Amino acid sequence: LNYRNTGFITSAPDIRHLPQDTGVEIAFAGRSNAGKSSALNRITDQKGLARTSKTPGRTQLINMFEVTTGCNLIDLPGYGFAQVPLELKIKWQKALGEYLQKRECLKGLVVLMDIRHPMKDLDQQMIFWAIESRLPVLVLLTKADKMKSGARKAQLLKVRESSKSFGGDVQIELFSSLKGIGLDQVRRKLDTWFGP
Ligand code: GTP
Ligand code: MG
Repeated sequence: LNYRNTGFITSAPDIRHLPQDTGVEIAFAGRSNAGKSSALNRITDQKGLARTSKTPGRTQLINMFEVTTGCNLIDLPGYGFAQVPLELKIKWQKALGEYLQKRECLKGLVVLMDIRHPMKDLDQQMIFWAIESRLPVLVLLTKADKMKSGARKAQLLKVRESSKSFGGDVQIELFSSLKGIGLDQVRRKLDTWFGP
């Protein structure tokens, strides 16, 4: 697919307000500040498509983008942001779980993690939910440019090794929105999920 033609469709305050459950949807999830919006911008080659920020918790709405008719990308609000009240955090966690379990058109989950702090509890929870729903998962270790090449490779192998215990379809790759590391692999994976 040509990801450069991706356009903004709509924002929703919560899962219930998303457009109808049709076509094929791929969601981008991760902790606040992990680099979800930056990754979407890089993949689509459009700097201003998804709003990025140095302040964690910038994306508070669910944003939907269309690559081509029936092929949608979802930018989910980040989880685990320290300054959000506990009650709201729990509510959002529940909503995420429900979305992963109930959304029929969801065909793949991309979980983004800062390569320096991968596989926090909530990241693992997301992967568990996805596997439970038989959803394939692509884990991107983001901001890979922040590590030297040797350390980066070592970290990749370590996360790959530890994620074998998940048992489901979980692929781990390096990624950098800044340097374009892993870009081709992500696009190829999205292509297979979107199907012919
Ligand atoms: P929320 O919407 O708050 O959940 O954050 P997000 O996951 O969408 O993160 P966002 O893309 O807004 O990026 C957060 C910060 O990380 C910004 O300051 C980005 O410039 C920076 N960043 C994102 N990707 C990379 C990367 O690959 N390399 C480097 N060095 N910085 C990055
Ligand atoms: Mg964002």
